[in-house]
Amino acid sequence: MPANPGDARPSRSPVSRRQVLAVGGTGLLAATASATRAAARIRKARAAGGDGTPEQIHLTWGENPATSVVVSWASPEPATRPRVRIGQRVIPGQPRHYSDGINGETVWTYHSRVDGLRPGATYAYVVTADNDSNAADPFTATFRTAPHGRTAFRFTSFGDLATPNTAWVLSYGQSAYAVDAVESFQPLFHLLNGDLCYADLNPAVQPEVWRDFGNNNQTSAANRPWMPCLGNHEVEFGNGAQGFTSYLTRYTLPDNQMPGFDGRWYSFRVGSVLFVSLDADDMVYQDAGAFVAGPAALTPAASTGNPAIEPGTSFYVKGYSGGAQTAWLERTLAAARRDDSIDWIIVQMHQCACSSSATGNGSDLGIRQQWLPLFDQYQVDLVLNGHDHDYERSFPVRGADADAGHEVASGAVVNTLRPHPVTTTDNGVFDTSQGTVHLILGCGGTDANLDDYGVDPAVGERQAKVFTHANRPALTSTGDVYDRAVADAVEDAIWSAKRDTSTGYGIAVFDVNPDPEDFGGHTSITVTHYHAVGVDPVNPTTGAKGVPTPDYTEFETFTLVRPRSA
Ligand SMILES: [Fe+2]
Repeated sequence: MPANPGDARPSRSPVSRRQVLAVGGTGLLAATASATRAAARIRKARAAGGDGTPEQIHLTWGENPATSVVVSWASPEPATRPRVRIGQRVIPGQPRHYSDGINGETVWTYHSRVDGLRPGATYAYVVTADNDSNAADPFTATFRTAPHGRTAFRFTSFGDLATPNTAWVLSYGQSAYAVDAVESFQPLFHLLNGDLCYADLNPAVQPEVWRDFGNNNQTSAANRPWMPCLGNHEVEFGNGAQGFTSYLTRYTLPDNQMPGFDGRWYSFRVGSVLFVSLDADDMVYQDAGAFVAGPAALTPAASTGNPAIEPGTSFYVKGYSGGAQTAWLERTLAAARRDDSIDWIIVQMHQCACSSSATGNGSDLGIRQQWLPLFDQYQVDLVLNGHDHDYERSFPVRGADADAGHEVASGAVVNTLRPHPVTTTDNGVFDTSQGTVHLILGCGGTDANLDDYGVDPAVGERQAKVFTHANRPALTSTGDVYDRAVADAVEDAIWSAKRDTSTGYGIAVFDVNPDPEDFGGHTSITVTHYHAVGVDPVNPTTGAKGVPTPDYTEFETFTLVRPRSA
């Protein structure tokens, strides 16, 4: 088990541990003034007990985005008096740490909750500690609080980001450009729709993958909140009851008032929009969390005390909340629709109810059974997903068509609860009080070109795969190697309105306009999807890649409208 393989790789943090160690270890730079200062800082840091230099700095909203944010960060070793300075206030960083259940590395994180801020205001802040090797010139950034009341604002979204360090499975250089893209649009905040960095696919080095992820997205997430949700790749062996310990240690998220389920799902409100962030791992049939395919077992470091994980083992967490999440969701949606000051309800979750990806995962009946009826009842306007590494937009859907699916193996009819489109006219303006629009935004930066979409060979219609059963691991013909099957059913995807066949990579930009004058008494959200053409394979025959690109161009724009609540 490599003790600390992350030290050998580049980082986007202002001062990485590698740089610190290089300066401290060689002395070759001692002739320069900057190196002398750096060495002095390191001596001071060591004297204070380890390297507490802040890194992986990121913001999330506090309980009220108009008045509170949380600053979170990590440090290579325990920080002494970790703190955020904002104006004259000094807010101690509350420490949280965990030891990775596979390689045993301890991760040190800190969280400073900043309350009492003014709405719509810009603040500068500093993050430091007594043993910060940058103490003389500590990290500083600015952020903006949310506006109060019915006010226009912009947010952005994608999922499946990964890291720019291609040593890791599913990481890719586009991940850095994707973070830059967020900054280029200057949103109030960003929604990161799960599958943050695929650490579970690099089980021997999970904390190192998270570190590269955190240092990459610090470029934007230190300047504006990045609000995440859990995906299947946040389910990690050895890290807690659902495998979420790494995610939960690194993020402080709005309180869901659900003891035992902190951080797994939450809501927050900006202006006249309620954002609801869900963990679909609790709902989906698909088994796609941590998995040991074999033939070798996965053997944790001896220091963890954890036993070997045998081939054919998967970490399957469907139903872990025992219905608590769905009950919370219903309470939250009902309260929102009783509140005249809320117009829009936008849901963020990783896995998909409406995806017709052919090479990706597809749709999942679990979400359709448990949550789509609630989305209908309480008029959820928009659902943002990741999971499939492509872009797809549904027509507004409400209700379900019965018995519209077929089992792949037998051809037998299966009730996939196919979402029913309330219109199939793609005129660019959709009234979401009549039906919910689903968007797949599943390729922030990860290395997987999955923008291939299903077609029913018999009729030429769009076709979606649907999981209606759990695809638990099964032995392959190789004997001692296990696999998990693809979705078991298909349906004609009459709900599918738009698919981007030119690239999976992209970012969606949402401009909320609460002024009803612009759309005949309706409030509106203008959505523009920008895509990074050229990143996907340029040669479909050989699969030769394009190259990561900073160029995001408009793919499509459309407008969602709904009547103002009051
Ligand atoms: Fe996923």
